Amino acid sequence: MILETIEVGGCRSYILGCPKTHVSAVIDPEISAIERYRGLAARHGLTLRYAIDTHTHADHFSAAREIGKALGAQVVMSHLSPASHVDIKLDDGDLLLIGDIRLQAMATPGHTADSTSLYTQGHVFTGDALLIGGTGRTDLPTGDPEQLYDSLFNRLLKLDPATQIHPAHEYRGRTGSTIGEEIATNPRLQNTDRADFVAMMRALNIQAPTHLTEALRVNMSGAKSVARLLSEASASVPFMAMDELSRRIAARQNDLVILDVREKDAFDAGHLPGAVHLPRGQLELRVNEAFPDPTVRIVAVCEFGKISTLAAATLRALGFRHASALDGGMEGWCEAGLSTEK
Ligand SMILES: [Fe+2]
Repeated sequence: MILETIEVGGCRSYILGCPKTHVSAVIDPEISAIERYRGLAARHGLTLRYAIDTHTHADHFSAAREIGKALGAQVVMSHLSPASHVDIKLDDGDLLLIGDIRLQAMATPGHTADSTSLYTQGHVFTGDALLIGGTGRTDLPTGDPEQLYDSLFNRLLKLDPATQIHPAHEYRGRTGSTIGEEIATNPRLQNTDRADFVAMMRALNIQAPTHLTEALRVNMSGAKSVARLLSEASASVPFMAMDELSRRIAARQNDLVILDVREKDAFDAGHLPGAVHLPRGQLELRVNEAFPDPTVRIVAVCEFGKISTLAAATLRALGFRHASALDGGMEGWCEAGLSTEK
């Protein structure tokens, strides 16, 4: 069995591969690591057949749907997952065949209602039900400390003590643990009384994850995060460096249009010399009259370089083949001491 652990911040994901059939699954893939999964699978000569999420993540963005789309992998989650893009929904006890590897779903709710652990050959992927030296929190949507108690004490901790655990999070870089080690040392598991455990979980006062609502929205719908929308836009347009644009303005080349897409107040307070003003919010409505010539070269400018990237991507999608965005925004332009006008 091939097992690769991939760390992104405090998130852990795993590639589980069958060396005989060259089939593999990625467990809890994170959006920023897609190229790493692809590269690791290729290094082992594996195809990614399944992208499995152990639960609806509230703190980071799942890559399961993207891997499904890009690589033709099946997206797998619990049958209690609210996500509509899941291809295979698992019930407790279901087996997933990854070549010769039998991966068994164990319903382990509590951190979320749809939390599922995955067991194979002395290894258990626990998602956020059981962490090394900790447990998942139970205060986020669908969390339930009573359920977590059962999932831990009546399911996961009943596995063979030698079973290795692989959680979806590890913040201190600890590389491995077993069920036996967790029973012996995990502070949250020392008091085995149900009422005490539930009271302890309810008393935890943990900060909400930074991207809580956005992560839930994205992971439940399979849609994009704002960061992903921006990164896709920036991958689809060329940029112009500030010093290059400054040089062209100074040389009065007049071979391009500088398009300022900020709001009127910001434009009036100072803009690039010769810039044309068309706010991002009105771009599609007024683009025909503003740019009758689709071959015109346009450099979009905004405050920080993000909205201008979206504007340039929109212009390209509308057929303006020479649309680009300033690499940076007005903030950087002014900081660099480059010329502006009012
Ligand atoms: Fe989680």
